[in-house]
Amino acid sequence: MPRTSGAVGAAYLRRGIRRSGALWAAWHRLRRVTKPEPPIPSRGVFIALEGGDGAGKSTQARLLCGWLEELGHTVVVTREPGGTAFGRTVRELVLHGDHVAPRAEALLFAADRAHHVETLILPALGRGEVVITDRYMDSSIAYQGAGRDLGVDEVRELNVWATGGLVPALTVLVDLPADVGRARRGGVHDRLESESADFHDAVRDLFLTLADADPDRYLVVDGELPPEQIHELVRARVAIVAGVAR
Ligand SMILES: Nc1ncnc2c1ncn2[C@@H]1O[C@H](COP(=O)(O)OP(=O)(O)O)[C@@H](O)[C@H]1O
Ligand SMILES: [Mg+2]
Repeated sequence: MPRTSGAVGAAYLRRGIRRSGALWAAWHRLRRVTKPEPPIPSRGVFIALEGGDGAGKSTQARLLCGWLEELGHTVVVTREPGGTAFGRTVRELVLHGDHVAPRAEALLFAADRAHHVETLILPALGRGEVVITDRYMDSSIAYQGAGRDLGVDEVRELNVWATGGLVPALTVLVDLPADVGRARRGGVHDRLESESADFHDAVRDLFLTLADADPDRYLVVDGELPPEQIHELVRARVAIVAGVAR
């Protein structure tokens, strides 16, 4: 198609701007600011469970799902990594494969999450369903940002980009000393579970820091309480956040 004189003019302008580094950077910043926001689902409810390995996330996901379904909600329980077919391949690589360079590890978790959000979470939220994910971006911020020491802000930025900024309505942090979680899991440890006590202490501290910084979006529960008691605390908070009857 022949270019209009307007398009040719714009191309010249862009080339001129590109030649001047500072202007080019400013142009990019402006484009970022003016880019339309991703669609924010308004109907469904997005809940994340976070915490160390063996803390009781899967147990609470199951209990919460059962309760919400009894109330008549359609619930999707999913997990990261591995909530999609693509994610299951990523899960094998990052949790059960050989050595992965830390930055590659962070990118693989983010890739799993990007695909998970776009192909599973957003469509379900768009249908008005409740999505409960066993781990979300806080796990990356804690494990790769703090545990691997890649930088909390950098890993957060990577994940905000990967998810288009999708944030859970509520994140339940099941808090547990790492050695208690380790004892619960027995002798089977994946790549991250096999990390040192210091690594897992840094992960736990970071989870707690994230929760402290945003109490409206987090519920911290003591993972050493009996599962039913934790579930009761979670129900009380979800009832408020999701506007569901108890
Ligand atoms: N509150 C709890 N108190 C004691 N044991 C628990 C509790 N919650 C879960 N468990 C047990 O601990 C183990 C790990 O729980 P799980 O829910 O799989 O943890 P996660 O998904 O966080 O790794 C399971 O054997 C589970 O039955
Ligand atoms: Mg689990």
